[in-house]
Amino acid sequence: MHSLVRRYIKTAIAFLIAGLLIGGWMIVRRELSQRPPSPYEVSAHTHTLFVGFVMMMILGVALWLFPRPDKNDTHYRPALVEAAYWLLTVGTAARTIGELLRPTLAAAFVRWLIVLSGFAQIAGLLLFFSTMWSRIRGLGSSAREARGERF
Ligand code: HEM
Repeated sequence: MHSLVRRYIKTAIAFLIAGLLIGGWMIVRRELSQRPPSPYEVSAHTHTLFVGFVMMMILGVALWLFPRPDKNDTHYRPALVEAAYWLLTVGTAARTIGELLRPTLAAAFVRWLIVLSGFAQIAGLLLFFSTMWSRIRGLGSSAREARGERF
């Protein structure tokens, strides 16, 4: 498991912890202070968990397990996978902060922060899969499939 894979997976775990803490904070406030969470707080919770934890874990495991790039592959570039990591990490963290601030602070910079960080998440996910596209390829299993074996 190389360093970028470990970074994806450990960052995913950090987002899991952040998402759970937001959930714990929302449930205490809802039940003990009769203050239901705003849609922004629920969005911070769910996107920290689903993009920050679930998606980053999937990307990290894909980076680890997908077949290595072919020797002649000029499409795959590790620097782009690293750029996707930063877009997704900074985008998810900034969006979480922006959405937690948003119920009390509707200033234009907070709204722009949420929009731009959301777009960073989109860009990160698209960049990851477009870069990884050529690593979605058959190795031994495609030869066995060609010989008639079915999985
Ligand atoms: C991996 C774990 C979790 C996932 C995937 C998850 C997912 C979700 C989702 C999808 C929603 C939106 C539900 C909706 O609006 O219909 C939600 C809301 C919420 N979650 Fe979580 N959650 C997790 C863990 C937790 C934990 C551990 C807590 C608290 C102990 C928690 C507390 C809440 C609260 C308070 C809401 C807002 C419900 C409301 O609208 O009043 N979540 N969660």
